Amino acid sequence: MKVLVVGSGGREHAIIRALLRSSQVTELLCSPGNPGIAADVECLPVVADDLGALVELATSRKLDLVVVGPEAPLVGGLVDALSAAGIAAFGPVAAAARLEGSKAYAKEVMEAAGVPTGGWSTVESVDAGMAAIVGYPAVIKFDGLAAGKGVVIATDEAAAREALEQFLVERRFGEGQVVVEEFLEGEELSLLALCDGERAVPMASAQDYKRIFDGDEGPNTGGMGSYCPVPSVDAERVAELSAIVHQPIVDHFSAIGTPFHGVLYAGLMMTADGPKVLEYNTRFGDPETQAVLPRLRSDLAELLLAATNAGGLAGRELDWDPRCAVTVVLASAGYPDSPRLGDPISGLELIAAPLELTCAGVADADGALVTAGGRVLNITALGETPAAARAAAYAGVELVEFDGKQTRSDIALRAEEATE
Ligand SMILES: Nc1ncnc2c1ncn2[C@@H]1O[C@H](COP(=O)(O)OP(=O)(O)O)[C@@H](O)[C@H]1O
Ligand SMILES: [Mg+2]
Repeated sequence: MKVLVVGSGGREHAIIRALLRSSQVTELLCSPGNPGIAADVECLPVVADDLGALVELATSRKLDLVVVGPEAPLVGGLVDALSAAGIAAFGPVAAAARLEGSKAYAKEVMEAAGVPTGGWSTVESVDAGMAAIVGYPAVIKFDGLAAGKGVVIATDEAAAREALEQFLVERRFGEGQVVVEEFLEGEELSLLALCDGERAVPMASAQDYKRIFDGDEGPNTGGMGSYCPVPSVDAERVAELSAIVHQPIVDHFSAIGTPFHGVLYAGLMMTADGPKVLEYNTRFGDPETQAVLPRLRSDLAELLLAATNAGGLAGRELDWDPRCAVTVVLASAGYPDSPRLGDPISGLELIAAPLELTCAGVADADGALVTAGGRVLNITALGETPAAARAAAYAGVELVEFDGKQTRSDIALRAEEATE
């Protein structure tokens, strides 16, 4: 099987590592990838949103499968374009990826499908937004894609007004409405499922850490670390939750004639009233994928190809390594506001199996890697217990240096404490 992975981050590197373990894969490419990924597979200089060039590449290289990592090309119709050219592509078509591309649409789908979620209103003006707020904290979300920067939890009226003005007057993310949402309390959970248009096959439970500082302080980031599985959410509980948050969505898209293929990622809040969906993503999560896939023993290439066919996952169950995985993100100085670029990275050669290093914001400067983005590297370790996996991951983190390196020190601490 000749496979291309589209994207350039830690998630794509983790997908590539898992595909390299497949006995089915004979050729593996990445576009555009990054210099860290290029150490594993051939990277081609085609950016993820150049649909025409990607279709041309897939056709000329006679690829058997294209795996689309990021959300923007999915929402932009890359899977539609590849499918039209007769190429199997893992990911939803644009009409189904809209579930991630529009938070208002996602709420409508959740309502239609009977999925539990917090109360909400969709508004188009600051006044309507202020009127829709029922109490504080208030949750204010830009409707469209905003690279993780479109959600504000406003603790008072002034903050709410400022957020609404940013989104609806200053148009920080361009044209678009706003969803004002009920604030939900509880622990967050990421539950991903592979979907084949008819059925959702859930993956192991995971948690990510969005804030920059320990103890969930400071601004939101793309994610500072993750772990898998969540001790309180075993396979049985995963199956129960998936029946509530994944299968109804797959059934809904099937019923409206745009079957959902690809990863359906449910961001859940485990509230006192039961699980509620905060949002759906329509692709692998970053950095959850870096912790989830190293535990997957089933053949990923086979699964992803099967998911592109209607009902292709029927009868399949996923096989998991019983150990736990912890991923720590190494971020650059100044992240998330203004990541500093160009800091030389040292110690990478010290990261060896069983540690897994996946590369995100890195660039090549005269043959050496330097920082080139906010989230630079991910270090993942497997361990018999969360404590062992944490200790191993953090030992790896100490080996890699660059000026201003930022990491959280409490990734998976919750899991360690839960299993003590
Ligand atoms: N209704 C809500 N109640 C409480 N916290 C929320 C709510 N919606 C979102 N959040 C917080 O904001 C984060 C980002 O929101 P999310 O809807 O996942 O948007 P995105 O990932 O696109 O930025 C969530 O992970 C959660 O921590
Ligand atoms: Mg989210």
